[in-house]
Amino acid sequence: MNKPKLKIAVFASGYGSNFEAIAKACQSGEIKAQVVLMVCDKPTARVNSLADELGVERMTFSAKDYASKAEYEAEIVERCKALGVELICLAGYMRLVGETLMEAYEGRMINIHPSLLPSFAGKDAVERAMEWGVKVYGATIHYVDSTLDGGKIIAQQAIPYEGDSIDELMAVIHPLEHQLYIDTIKKLTKQTK
Ligand code: GRF
Repeated sequence: MNKPKLKIAVFASGYGSNFEAIAKACQSGEIKAQVVLMVCDKPTARVNSLADELGVERMTFSAKDYASKAEYEAEIVERCKALGVELICLAGYMRLVGETLMEAYEGRMINIHPSLLPSFAGKDAVERAMEWGVKVYGATIHYVDSTLDGGKIIAQQAIPYEGDSIDELMAVIHPLEHQLYIDTIKKLTKQTK
């Protein structure tokens, strides 16, 4: 009998290229998992229409409609549990995770960040790294804890780059992030390459 597919929720706030890569890899069968939910805190973000195009159920909310983080996270957890979500992948989700989500999914929630953590946690990581003149950039996937881009590292990939064009560098970092996320989910699901 076939093993049931791992159920994933992807959380995003913006463009959604990582969401797209993960969802398509699941739909094509490259990853033996299913993206059953996309959670977005920005109603106007591109990632919402992308979820609709890919036929992925979504929960789009505005934090300002809730009294507290605990309140909207309780709704997210309820939705995830109802769909049987086993792994949460944060991909450009621009909010710190609070206690409610942590209690429900600690150890089963991962994030991608465009730097070699623990260097350059937080916003504009690539821009800040370039201002420092770093010569090796990269991407990191880590478990989520309640700190900003903290949590134990699962996977990292380095990118040597000595130029000064953010656009040129981003054009390399994004596809690398997508592949790193796909490979990491495969490893976490014990699926070899
Ligand atoms: C990625 O660079 C990711 O590392 C960071 O936010 C960005 C999201 O990009 N956390 P996208 O929305 O997946 O295109």
